[in-house]
Amino acid sequence: MTDIDINVNARAAKASVEPRTHLADFLRDHLNLTGTHLGCEHGVCGACTLLIDDMPARSCITLAAACDGARVVTIEGLDNDEIATEIRAAFTREHALQCGYCTPGMLISARDLVLRLDEADERAIRLGLSGNLCRCTGYVGIIRAVRSVIEARRERGIRPVPGAGRAQLGPVGSDNGARTARSETTRQAVSVDLQESAGSKPVVADFAPDKVFEEHFSIAASPDEVFAMFGDIRAIAACLPGVALTGEPTAEHVEGLIRVKLGPISAGFRGAARIERDASTMSGRIVGTGNDQRSRSSTQGEIRYRLVPIDAGAATRVELAIGYSLQGMLAQIAREALVRGLASRLTAEFARNLEQQLSGAADGAPVRPAQSIDGVALLLYGLWKLVRQIIQRSLKR
Ligand code: FES
Ligand code: FES
Repeated sequence: MTDIDINVNARAAKASVEPRTHLADFLRDHLNLTGTHLGCEHGVCGACTLLIDDMPARSCITLAAACDGARVVTIEGLDNDEIATEIRAAFTREHALQCGYCTPGMLISARDLVLRLDEADERAIRLGLSGNLCRCTGYVGIIRAVRSVIEARRERGIRPVPGAGRAQLGPVGSDNGARTARSETTRQAVSVDLQESAGSKPVVADFAPDKVFEEHFSIAASPDEVFAMFGDIRAIAACLPGVALTGEPTAEHVEGLIRVKLGPISAGFRGAARIERDASTMSGRIVGTGNDQRSRSSTQGEIRYRLVPIDAGAATRVELAIGYSLQGMLAQIAREALVRGLASRLTAEFARNLEQQLSGAADGAPVRPAQSIDGVALLLYGLWKLVRQIIQRSLKR
């Protein structure tokens, strides 16, 4: 259990929570604040939106333990708020709700827009509310309600508040909340140990992965060529989307950064990896570890590869065994299937880039800029694969 001090609706609260408890569950189950609704519980629908340190946030993907020292305002805390009162009246006037399930989250996002927007620009309002889904009313009445409140306030000479008064803009977890001694401890607790060795390079220890799965791909180059390429760390890093080296690599050691985006959460894992290779078996192993300070997550990963000759040695089947352990906030949302999907896509992109490198097609042109691996693109990729399978199956009938 983790002890937290949290301010909810201007009242101080102390609690002992399980590290995996979401803020929404904590508020609903421990403080009986059921105005915060839960819809998707995946950070997609916006029903659970509330304010953390004045910033709209998804409470279904925010850990209560991460809010130690934070100031939280739920819909109940806006009962007497001037702007929320005006928006509620406008919602009633403009028929902007039916079942009301989305309404608490919608009101909190709308209030943020009323505070911030210079004028009642419909496009900006639609954009600002795009993270809040309504399954029954439709958005016309909602947009009309928000527009009318902004127009009325600007006509009364009430100016927008830049950034809604926030000192920093950014997703929750980007250090906007007050840091307490305990949150510092929590932050350190999830960081994976990178012990400094005598030679000042971090030592990457072995570990037992929580999850292991396999991938493979084939490439039109001989095992010798592929094995030689795998020894060129810079070239391999250039083939991996989202990866950037942060130090001079050696044959046995590399330090770098990998950026990942899963739904609303972005993470940049900074860490180090140990490289082992065995030319006699055409195999190798990379063991790495990294931390993301923003999401307070850490990971350890291991990739084992084996190169198998195919097409009489003209081509190579690359067999991979990927193992990983994940701790911290990302572990709460990174379902195994999502990580597998990410790894499949990463492997496919890696294979394509590798083939380009080996064929020399990338001469003079970088293979790919280091991009983050986007969860939305991953989803689209998954959908595309599903549609393709359905079409293939129906053609076979
Ligand atoms: S419940 Fe859907 S975003 Fe939180
Ligand atoms: S009013 Fe029913 S979901 Fe929005």
